[in-house]
Amino acid sequence: MKQFNRTLVTAALPYANGPVHIGHLAGCYIPADIYVRYLRARKADVKFIGGTDEHGVPITIKAMQENVSPQDIVDKYYAIIKDSFDAMGISFDIFSRTSRQIHHETAAGFFKKMYDDGLFEERESEQYFDEVKQVFLADRYIIGTCPKCGNPNAYGDQCERCGSSLSPDELINPRSALSDAVPVKKKTKHWYMPLQNYEPWLKQYIIEDHKEWKNNVYGQCKSWLDNGLQSRAMTRDSNWGIKVPLKDAEGKVLYVWFDAPIGYISATRELTDQWQDYWCKEDSRLVHFIGKDNIVFHCIIFPAMLKGHGGYVVPDNVPANEFLNIEGEKVSTSRNWAVWVHEYIKDFPDQQDVLRYVLCATAPETKDNDFTWKDFQDRNNNELVANLGNFVNRTMVLMHKLCGGKVPPMHAEQKDAADDAVFAMLQEAKAKISESLETFRFRDALNEVMNVAREGNRYLQEKQPWILAKTPELQAQHQAQIDNCLHVCLQLTANLAIFINPFLPFTAKKICHMLKVVDRLLEWENAGSMKLVSVGYSLRPPELLFKKIEDEQVKAQVDKLHAGLKKPAAAAPEETPKPEAKPEIQYDDFAKLDLKVGTIIQAEKVEKADKLLKLTVDLGYEQRTVVSGIAQHFKPEEITGKQVTLVANLAPRKMRGIESQGMILMAEDKDGRLVFVNPDDAVAPGSSVS
Ligand code: 2FM
Ligand code: ZN
Repeated sequence: MKQFNRTLVTAALPYANGPVHIGHLAGCYIPADIYVRYLRARKADVKFIGGTDEHGVPITIKAMQENVSPQDIVDKYYAIIKDSFDAMGISFDIFSRTSRQIHHETAAGFFKKMYDDGLFEERESEQYFDEVKQVFLADRYIIGTCPKCGNPNAYGDQCERCGSSLSPDELINPRSALSDAVPVKKKTKHWYMPLQNYEPWLKQYIIEDHKEWKNNVYGQCKSWLDNGLQSRAMTRDSNWGIKVPLKDAEGKVLYVWFDAPIGYISATRELTDQWQDYWCKEDSRLVHFIGKDNIVFHCIIFPAMLKGHGGYVVPDNVPANEFLNIEGEKVSTSRNWAVWVHEYIKDFPDQQDVLRYVLCATAPETKDNDFTWKDFQDRNNNELVANLGNFVNRTMVLMHKLCGGKVPPMHAEQKDAADDAVFAMLQEAKAKISESLETFRFRDALNEVMNVAREGNRYLQEKQPWILAKTPELQAQHQAQIDNCLHVCLQLTANLAIFINPFLPFTAKKICHMLKVVDRLLEWENAGSMKLVSVGYSLRPPELLFKKIEDEQVKAQVDKLHAGLKKPAAAAPEETPKPEAKPEIQYDDFAKLDLKVGTIIQAEKVEKADKLLKLTVDLGYEQRTVVSGIAQHFKPEEITGKQVTLVANLAPRKMRGIESQGMILMAEDKDGRLVFVNPDDAVAPGSSVS
């Protein structure tokens, strides 16, 4: 195994276009923070890099929506996001911004070197353009009806209702999310990175050399690589971002996914003059914590950029999490279906660790997971209060009551197997927790810590010092056993502080405060020791680590979630819009149409055409072949036997080599749903419609 001497940990740079929600925390910031705090406790050389991603369309869109400048947007949200992370104890060594000068220089320099080395292809292409707003539209900002499920508000890259990934060309009735206008295609020039050239190297780097990556990450990378990579544009048309550092590049900026990961480098430069130690030395380990939607950028594109540029180490691990749903539904910022971190902090002041706990215990490490307020309450009340809090509290209360507020001695002659078992249990727990943390299995690690508390409670229950001290006489008789029990419990409490520290740093601090020990106690090498608090040392009075969360608090949160639910900004307006009207025609124009009722007697898919069905329509007196673009709305078996109205005298037309002899009339509602226009009652095939 490779020996590393320092580690650079990064957590995805959130877009500064909105506050962060608990899905962000669970996805990458809490795991990253746990990992870093663990490494720090091990006295490893580690730096933790964070910041906001302040370029790209998400920012400009938000600015347009709020009618302010992009700079106003990023300034506002940088502050909110930073405060949220600070309050939650996410212990970045630096929390920078991609709008800073140092980043502009670093990213532009990175691009320029790759350009000078001939690593880009210059290409012209056609892209969707909003003529009203005069901007090119990123896929996300083209909205239309999903061809798969009929969702009228699917995005040009994805349908949030059915989860299909889409391209803008697939959307039915595409419109601009900015102006509602129908977008047009327009020519533009960009610089592309031929990712296919990096394929052999990437295959070796990931598929061969990083089999230890999490299954969800490894699997996604493998599938990208198996499907073959293509050139990808690394620039965009925009006036917000890092200007392309070339002469003929007016109005062009770096693609936000080119500039953002370089933000990790810029922030390290900003943090320390020794930044190159972390980025360029072979014995440095680079670890990116991200959510699953960022996998391709961190595992394929950024490593290819680093490799192409040269001189940098590449990520050693990318422990991406899946998504956290809320109350059974996908988080949606546009619908405001989210638990916002800054609001949580207001509603639950001083209870950051409860959220850290729940989000780690239910982290979507291997698959999407669900956050519910009921589960939040249960975990707090049944696990934090009833297990960890209870053990520490009972220990402190009993020690004050039965040992005069001082750490009691351990009487060797009274020591028994249960005391020794605690020591053995701690050694085992330390090994397991370390192993789980090092392999990014944070849930397992936390569970193991809670097992230590459980063992503590079991031990205390077995010893029952309160029974031994039922009367002053009994207490005098059993003082040595009582001392031993509380001595062990206090050492256990100190161990718990060390173990829980990466996960619940506020709680660890509180325990240290009660034990009157300094933070140095929390160093990992101390874990497993039974000599952490000194005999005779007087301790502070107990303070509760956790408090019960009541049903009303849970109800209030669930109600708030539902009350805040919004329609997406780009959703169809409430009032029924007037449909577009065509110019008036004379009866003679209409009479030219030969409309006939027919029955579909056969329907089949047309090969290599997603949208087309080949239909055989029986008109009674003859059968017609009709090719119809309805394959994404109906399955062949659903429509066989249906009566339809056919434009029977439409000039035949070849589609995919098949002659279509007529057209079937359909009604389309505003959601893009198609319905056959047919007679109210069955009529004989061939009946005329007039
Ligand atoms: O998905 C996002 O929110 C991106 N802003 C993450 C960027 S991570 C890194 F590349 F900066
Ligand atoms: Zn869909």
